[in-house]
Amino acid sequence: MQPTVIAPSILSANFARLGEEVDAVLAAGADWVHFDVMDNHYVPNLTIGPLVCEALRKHGVTAPIDVHLMVEPVDRIVPDFAKAGASLISFHPEASKHVHRTIQLIKAEGCQAGLVLNPATPVDVLDYVLDELDLVLLMSVNPGFGGQAFIPSTLDKLRRVRERIDASGRSIRLEIDGGVKPDNIGEIAAAGADTFVAGSAIFGQPDYAAVVDRMRAEVDA
Ligand code: DX5
Ligand code: ZN
Repeated sequence: MQPTVIAPSILSANFARLGEEVDAVLAAGADWVHFDVMDNHYVPNLTIGPLVCEALRKHGVTAPIDVHLMVEPVDRIVPDFAKAGASLISFHPEASKHVHRTIQLIKAEGCQAGLVLNPATPVDVLDYVLDELDLVLLMSVNPGFGGQAFIPSTLDKLRRVRERIDASGRSIRLEIDGGVKPDNIGEIAAAGADTFVAGSAIFGQPDYAAVVDRMRAEVDA
């Protein structure tokens, strides 16, 4: 297993003062910035694009920016995010006609590549591409909105993907996204996740450091 990463989803941050929000959550001990990109087409919501990613870099953010693309088509926007300072770019296989090609494109642009599995997407989608990936992201809610409840069947899916990653012998991160809170992060970690996205659980509380600390303590317990 790799060192724990806590990746706050800025979807639940106050967008009117995004730079300060990101500074605050990183100062509170978060590791990555999780950046949710929604297009009102692949998912029923509309959020932020490369311009905002670039603005965070210009603001002085040096932490990894973990771009979660919920857009269709994917390939056109990948170079824009790479230029805007993305560190990792993850996409949904349903949104790309050529999954292997999109992974190669992300890596050719100098970013780490992740594949995102929706709650109903079978793990078999990893069969011929796992070795190409830096990260597998399991959605524990249906994508599109923050603040939804964790879908319990994701725990079994985490265990199955953890087995595959371990069998591959490669250092691929296993990230979980949706409904992650201090109360359930312990069992999510025990099921095999090492990278934890949390939006409402962190930005919904006044003391970000208290939540991040509690999450890390629950993972390590
Ligand atoms: C949902 C997004 C998530 C979302 C998580 O489509 O991918 O990253 O912000 O929000 P919470 O942690 O509130 O479930
Ligand atoms: Zn996300």
